[in-house]
Amino acid sequence: MPPIISVKQLSKTYASGFHALKHIDLDIHQGEIFALLGPNGAGKTTLISIICGIVNPSEGTVLADGHDVVRDYRSARSKIGLVPQELTTDAFETVWNTVSFSRGLFGKSANPAHVEKVLKELSLWNKKDSRLMTLSGGMKRRVMIAKALSHEPQILFLDEPTAGVDVELRRDMWAMVRALRDTGVTIILTTHYIDEAEEMADRIGVINKGELILVENKAELMNKLGRKQLALQLQNPLQGIPAALSDYPLELSADGQQLVYTFDAQSEHTGIDALLRRLGEAGIDFKDLKTSQSSLEDIFVDLVRERA
Ligand SMILES: Nc1ncnc2c1ncn2[C@@H]1O[C@H](COP(=O)(O)OP(=O)(O)OP(=O)(O)O)[C@@H](O)[C@H]1O
Ligand SMILES: [Mg+2]
Repeated sequence: MPPIISVKQLSKTYASGFHALKHIDLDIHQGEIFALLGPNGAGKTTLISIICGIVNPSEGTVLADGHDVVRDYRSARSKIGLVPQELTTDAFETVWNTVSFSRGLFGKSANPAHVEKVLKELSLWNKKDSRLMTLSGGMKRRVMIAKALSHEPQILFLDEPTAGVDVELRRDMWAMVRALRDTGVTIILTTHYIDEAEEMADRIGVINKGELILVENKAELMNKLGRKQLALQLQNPLQGIPAALSDYPLELSADGQQLVYTFDAQSEHTGIDALLRRLGEAGIDFKDLKTSQSSLEDIFVDLVRERA
């Protein structure tokens, strides 16, 4: 199956001369949840805006469900729902009218049953006659999602969907995103919450300073870059790492109280048993030990720092 979104050699230079995107190549597959991670100003919103036809590319092409987003804008855009990072709502309009009107903008005939379903799924049904200015921030965000879903898009972009959203609504939104994916909708989201990407995404792309520096299956990413560490709390502090242990990748804390052993989480032989035996032979006693695994957050911070 061809990718539902195909980005080829995409670059963007804003009128100010700023290079916001540099030669981006990216394919998104139908039915996946793709998370785009990157620090502030990395180019996430720019990339999304180009795919959605809001910002013009300087170079390169984007196809959405086979339609060129520039030359065949209307067809491409009708496949796409966008929840923008900035909330823009018409303060005096009611929830029902806003969402119904949005559907009309895409040339779809009125479908009150669909609007009702969307509002109910987003727990907005009891607010359908409220004016937007009377809603809380989280409710406004849900209205933005309802608008994006009003024309039954196959592809949904969520730009920072859970920024400033409380924990409960965040969970609700995750559930909603999964339910949408289960109906075949392809989801692309940006987030600053790494745990959100870890929880939700099938694949992860990391963008930094306009360059897509990595695209990887989430599970493979964690496997490939994930490290495990064993920290031993020593009974008696050490001055240095004893010669008998010099062939192990060990680090001693500054106060000499803790030895940290880093090992490959994927390897069958972690070497822990041999290390502990060797410690015993060297007469080094420990009072506590714990293992930890690097999280997606550690991986992300390492990646972005490397390129700083
Ligand atoms: N209209 C514009 N004119 C000039 N520069 C712009 C414009 N829009 C964005 N930029 C610049 O392009 C870069 C990328 O911005 P973008 O909004 O895509 O980042 P982002 O990854 O979405 O960041 P954030 O995480 O803060 O939302 C930034 O340096 C920004 O200042
Ligand atoms: Mg942004």
